Amino acid sequence: MPVPTLVLNFGHSVLRSLSDYTEAASEIYRHYRTGRNIVAVTSAQGDQTDVLLAEARRIGPEGASDGGGARNLPELLQLGERRSAALLALALERIGAPAFVRQARGLGLTAQGDPMSAELTGLDTGQLMQDLKDHDIVVMPGFVAIGEKDRAVLLGQGGADYTALYVADQLGAPALLLKDVDGVYDRDPKEASDTPPRRYARVSYADLRRKAGPLIADRAIDYAESTGQRFRIGKPGVAGSTLVGDVSGLPEETAMPPKLRIAMMGLGIVGGGVWRRVAEHPDRFEIVRVMVRNPDKYIDQGYPEDLLTTKAEDLLAAEPDIFIDVSGPIEPALPLTRDMLARGVDVVSANKQAVAAGGQALLDHARRSDARLLFSSAAGGGMPMLEMCVRERGRIARVEALLNGTTNFMLGEMEGGLSYDDALKIAQDRGYAEADPTADVDGHDAAAKIRLVSLLGFGEELDPADIPRDSLSDMTGQQEPGTVLKRVARVSGDTGEIVADLRLRALSPNNFLAQADGEDAHAVFDFTDGDRYVIRGKGAGRWPTTESVMADLYDLSNGTDPSG
Ligand code: HSE
Repeated sequence: MPVPTLVLNFGHSVLRSLSDYTEAASEIYRHYRTGRNIVAVTSAQGDQTDVLLAEARRIGPEGASDGGGARNLPELLQLGERRSAALLALALERIGAPAFVRQARGLGLTAQGDPMSAELTGLDTGQLMQDLKDHDIVVMPGFVAIGEKDRAVLLGQGGADYTALYVADQLGAPALLLKDVDGVYDRDPKEASDTPPRRYARVSYADLRRKAGPLIADRAIDYAESTGQRFRIGKPGVAGSTLVGDVSGLPEETAMPPKLRIAMMGLGIVGGGVWRRVAEHPDRFEIVRVMVRNPDKYIDQGYPEDLLTTKAEDLLAAEPDIFIDVSGPIEPALPLTRDMLARGVDVVSANKQAVAAGGQALLDHARRSDARLLFSSAAGGGMPMLEMCVRERGRIARVEALLNGTTNFMLGEMEGGLSYDDALKIAQDRGYAEADPTADVDGHDAAAKIRLVSLLGFGEELDPADIPRDSLSDMTGQQEPGTVLKRVARVSGDTGEIVADLRLRALSPNNFLAQADGEDAHAVFDFTDGDRYVIRGKGAGRWPTTESVMADLYDLSNGTDPSG
């Protein structure tokens, strides 16, 4: 079964500053983890196009700034969109999402007519589909295409929206155009008024032109109308949107998600990342208390003293809406998680040992409570491993995966000639390893993740002690030439009962698992109907794991579901 694709466009209004690329990458990741491949079309940041135009005016021929006679103006003006595409891909790379940039030329995106406002005529969908197969996420600049005589041409005002709609139409995929408002309103929602603005769940093309002219240029609307294409207008980080098409509806009152009070436990590699990302959204989240073992250490790092505590009672007394567990040990995390759920507090946990130890009983406890327990980051780092298990449960025959970033990183470094100790030291310095790295090298960390995969993907609770495992210290002798050594976690229901192990295996370089470099994580899901899905991401590290926690947080805030 082909993986469904979603086309996203990031408009100027949501790419105003460098930090907006982090938000855009987050938005992509949230869609990606629900099992979709993504084509992300970029606009230029803020007023970049005007800056480039001014440069053309100074350097180019007479009339260069309106394109009159300056055939090379599109070469310059497309740089804004191309810069955005590269920055967005870099932001995705930071969170370990598998992004790839492909330019209009590489995608055979052709156009004809006025070089400043050309009309799209073709796309090499075969190339784009191959790129999506190889990379899952393709970032491409909007607004530019290849015109007559192989010259770059531009697509006029609203050109990036037009690009996204055209690409989506050619792929037969849905499109979501991201703006700084979460859809079409009956009046400008930014204008002050006594009555709240109301958002349309659905609008016709004509109503969109009338009510939201500046939001989407006629060019893009005309194209969608001419093909009968439906699309959505939304805002990054917000679940609501407006559907545009041969539809109509009445506007409804909508509320922005309420601001949520967060209590946290842990301020280490991931905790520190979560702190920073949450702080970027004071309108959505507020950290009200943080439990750590040694407050002095964090006061020295600049964390506010009055928020730090060593007592679980203080976290409970803060009456949070959400408890984020980014600590490592099972105690006190597991009892506190149970207490929070019992009080109706939603929990986001990156603590794989605690959630694995809690097992089915903890999941049942969460189900009986008035709260949700999300723990996407507990296995696979930024690779959407557990989301896939939940989504495909009942259909999975076998999972093979690299579930420990530290050991994958170490094996690669050791293959390159580093000693075991040096490789481990770098993995620790980079923040991949657990506080006690024997958990990584001996397989205790991976065993907890295998238990979670078995629990969510197969509904079976394995005893981690019964999972046969190879430690990195079990490596003996020479590696077979022409092979790549990986420690592969396997959970299989092939024979009717669940079998799991964690084995050092010499793989062919063509094997998808063998192609995971450094702290990358790869997983292969084989289904009972013979179908196969592969997924990838960074298995460890601050930003990939933080992003996974943030995605759960947004799901709680928006009332959406991580498994899609
Ligand atoms: N120590 C873990 C690893 C962190 O290396 O995979 C991510 O769970």
